[in-house]
Amino acid sequence: MSVPREPYLLTPGPLTTSKVTQSAMLRDWGSWDYDFNALTAEVCRRLLAVAHAEDTHVCVPLQGSGTYVVEGALATLLPRDGKALVLMNGAYGQRMARILQYLGRDFTTLDMGDYLPPPPDRVAALLAADPGITHVAVVHCETSSGILNPLEAIAEVTRRQGRRLFVDAMSSFGALPVDARELPFDGLVSSANKCFEGVPGFGFALLRREVLEQCAGHAHSLSLDLYDQWRYLERTGQWRFTPPTHVVAAFASALDQHEAEGGVAGRLARYTLNRDLLVSGMRAMGFQTLLDNRWLSPIIVTFHSPAHPNFQFETFYQQVKQRGFLLYPGKLTQVESFRVGCIGQLFEEQMHGVLAAIRATLDDLGIPDGSPRPEDLDKPAF
Ligand SMILES: Cc1ncc(COP(=O)(O)O)c(C=O)c1O
Repeated sequence: MSVPREPYLLTPGPLTTSKVTQSAMLRDWGSWDYDFNALTAEVCRRLLAVAHAEDTHVCVPLQGSGTYVVEGALATLLPRDGKALVLMNGAYGQRMARILQYLGRDFTTLDMGDYLPPPPDRVAALLAADPGITHVAVVHCETSSGILNPLEAIAEVTRRQGRRLFVDAMSSFGALPVDARELPFDGLVSSANKCFEGVPGFGFALLRREVLEQCAGHAHSLSLDLYDQWRYLERTGQWRFTPPTHVVAAFASALDQHEAEGGVAGRLARYTLNRDLLVSGMRAMGFQTLLDNRWLSPIIVTFHSPAHPNFQFETFYQQVKQRGFLLYPGKLTQVESFRVGCIGQLFEEQMHGVLAAIRATLDDLGIPDGSPRPEDLDKPAF
């Protein structure tokens, strides 16, 4: 009897990982042992190399999900009398603002709604008008719509105004190029279970060394204090508190596979192909993307829900799942939508597979095509 395969995850992480990565967890590690310390050091060294940041930044890993490291990095980098400008065009920008509220740090926002990109000239104007703003916080790929924000242009206006940059690159780092020699960020965070295709359990921050050295006492929280985590790691080679040992071992294996695939360029090429196959196949069935081609990331794509009265996301989801693929619900407030991820151990075969599963599901539900309500397409040009 053949064992049915678990569904492929067309989600932005946790995502489908390789058997090699999963197998790397079949060993127990002493969390204080020299071997595990060497593994941590190696992982950090390689992450810095991916961003060409070896000479300028340090890598600080932190237990927990991605949000923990966003919070830890903001708490550590922002002085208590600092002020952030948070660029929001979706859930993760909003989450940074919420974190700052919890931290009791002063902040202001540029809120672009569900998906519109933050215009760099508006960012420049906001900075010019408020010299009290010390930091700009931006999400690279805003996973809630899948938009790829104009990071380089935002970084440039931030630098020109002499302010400091924080990047939530959770869903992009490892697949979209980041070069610290050109992109002047103080902090950039991501996590194990995104484009490096590890399993969930820790995040990491690339922090500018000369800035971090000045960050003692900024954090309000012991466990999220990345300055303290860094100092302890430097001194002992160890994480301060119990590390997710198996997850780190899986991540080291995932990094080997990332490198073997051609690093960032190799991964970007595969994810881009996945996205292109997905988008053209979905459009051929009448579905429409929320965003024009120029804003589509190779990470995750938002589609408008079909207008047909038989469409109901929960039923659609269940049926596509029975056919072997997990989709992702939408996160927009104004229009009905759903999302399909392009990252993880997904190749041409899986992209053709999910398209066939969606076609068969539409047929079963009596929905001739995926075209949305015309009024949902009514949006400002951007
Ligand atoms: C851009 C971005 N930031 C932050 C997060 C939060 O990460 P987590 O859900 O692991 O806490 C996510 C999760 O998908 C994300 O995509």
